[in-house]
Amino acid sequence: MKFNAMTAVAALMLALPGAVAADPDDDNLVINGEQEMTTKAPLPAHMEDANMDQIMSGWHFRSDETQALEMDDFDNPGMIFVDAGRDQWNAVEGSEGNSCATCHEDPSSMEGVRAVYPKWDEKAGEVQTVAMQINDCRENNMGAEPYGYTSGQMANMEALIALQSRGMPVDVTIDGPAEEMWEKGKEIYYTRYGQLELSCANCHEDNYGNMIRADHLSQGQINGFPTYRLKNARLNTAHGRFKGCIRDTRAHTFDPGSDEFVALELYVASRGNGLSVEGPSVRN
Ligand code: HEC
Ligand code: HEC
Repeated sequence: MKFNAMTAVAALMLALPGAVAADPDDDNLVINGEQEMTTKAPLPAHMEDANMDQIMSGWHFRSDETQALEMDDFDNPGMIFVDAGRDQWNAVEGSEGNSCATCHEDPSSMEGVRAVYPKWDEKAGEVQTVAMQINDCRENNMGAEPYGYTSGQMANMEALIALQSRGMPVDVTIDGPAEEMWEKGKEIYYTRYGQLELSCANCHEDNYGNMIRADHLSQGQINGFPTYRLKNARLNTAHGRFKGCIRDTRAHTFDPGSDEFVALELYVASRGNGLSVEGPSVRN
């Protein structure tokens, strides 16, 4: 018998005794008692045909305890990594004798950056992620070794940069020169991979709100990345997460930093246009 996607999801859900559909909650995410985040927003125009009626941050699908960790920077374990990112920001490395601070001064100069990436870079003639831009600066402006694409140092730096845009609405551009990559990302999102023949959409669009293997399925948004996961007690990058999700369908996956994952990141980011940048968020 050949599994189709829906039976595969159903089988995964049945594999969990006591699996129930659990609706996302109506809580509000306010950070440090003062910064209100937009965690639910109307569907972006390009998602008119999607099988959902609003977009929601992954925060809504977590337990009260996990949610609370993101509501106060003293409790958010991701903040330790932001501090490490700040040390990296000020560290002179490479042949040119520069640190990030040499050219960009304070990290606050990065305000707004996380909200609009991935974005088309005219000079490079390609869509760039924040990670690609960081490595571009390390190699070409510092004469330093690039960070590993999903390395701890990369995640730290991405968290520091994301924090400067916290609370700003995600607003990636999907037309103009970026459109081709966006289309490519969309195609990947709806392609069924692996033995389970599951697409991103089968889980994160058709089944969000349901329990799957003891996990409450979210919409798979990336507005909260990089994300501190309780499961591995470190910051996780978006491409690391994509890789894990594809592997769970028992498929071979694309490489972090590959064209495919850059396209997918652009597309998934655009599905969150209107949600607040939350990075570093906390998930299980
Ligand atoms: C020698 C100067 C120099 C150094 C050192 C440098 N950068 Fe840059 N950076 C630039 C310039 C110039 C740009 C804008 C042009 C471009 O895209 O290359 C830029 C752009 C960026 C952007 C994109 C900003 C935007 O508005 O889109 C990010 C992110 C960034 N740099 C991060 C870093 C980080 C992190 C470091 C340290 C690891 C660093 N840079 C080191 C000169 C530098
Ligand atoms: C078999 C079902 C399944 C498939 C297929 C799947 N995922 Fe996931 N994904 C999960 C589960 C379970 C989680 C953890 C709970 C949650 O946040 O939804 C998760 C989490 C995520 C998260 C983290 C969300 C957050 O707020 O931290 C992202 C991003 C994500 N997935 C993207 C994708 C993308 C992109 C694809 C397609 C390449 C994909 N997933 C395919 C099951 C799936």
